[in-house]
Amino acid sequence: MTRLKKNFPRRPLVAGNWKMHRTASDTKNLIEDIVQRVQKIANVDMVVCPPFTSLAVAAETLGRHSVLAIGAQNMHQAKEGAFTGEVSGTMLRDLGVRYVILGHSERRHFFNETDTGVAAKATIAVSYLLRPIVCVGETLAQREAKETMAVVEAQLRGSLQGFPKEKLAELVIAYEPVWAIGTGKVATPKQANDVHHKIRAILTDLFGPEGANLRILYGGSVKPENSAALMAENDIDGFLVGGASLDARSFFNIIESARPVRASEND
Ligand code: PGA
Repeated sequence: MTRLKKNFPRRPLVAGNWKMHRTASDTKNLIEDIVQRVQKIANVDMVVCPPFTSLAVAAETLGRHSVLAIGAQNMHQAKEGAFTGEVSGTMLRDLGVRYVILGHSERRHFFNETDTGVAAKATIAVSYLLRPIVCVGETLAQREAKETMAVVEAQLRGSLQGFPKEKLAELVIAYEPVWAIGTGKVATPKQANDVHHKIRAILTDLFGPEGANLRILYGGSVKPENSAALMAENDIDGFLVGGASLDARSFFNIIESARPVRASEND
């Protein structure tokens, strides 16, 4: 695969968001298939985020020192308590989970998650040594009304309110335009990079120069066919992949396109 060259100031990260797909029984095979393909890939952080019911089997299949880390798709901010149907950060951590997706647009739209709630979860997540992947993104109507930057800025500032600066290195941001999620309509590399660039500026404003070092992932209809061109953009540091992460080959190809190019390659 030919990849476009760029400097990689930040270590790329590719996370697969399985959403509500795969039973625990189906998980082992898919995880094994992915691991087999990606185990020789270096210099990319790789994460799979199966449903809660598959986390234990994912952890068991991968063992302690796998190249593939495990993420969850949500968590509750309390340590424990009377919160029927919820799962806490300590419970995730105990299973060997290292990442947690927070504020995904499906959580915001279907389950009424708010920026304030996401901010509370992000702060608690890092206290349990979980790395939050905080998601932001505009709807089609907002993009058409030219509100993209304002919407993303408000979500980002709201979702990171009170986030402890000393835990900044643990934080990952994902820009996922709602109109691109699961629709096959991927943002153009320029559309995505413009927003990533703005996000980086906001992070710098919020946290100082270290804010500029955070990884910003793109998500929304990422496929092996479009990932290399997106990855060539300066402010795109990896991907949050939905549908294509359920196919081991596609997921591998996307990860491969995010791998930093060695000087000897592509020549
Ligand atoms: P998609 O989903 O890749 O299926 O568009 C991305 C996401 O929602 O994280």
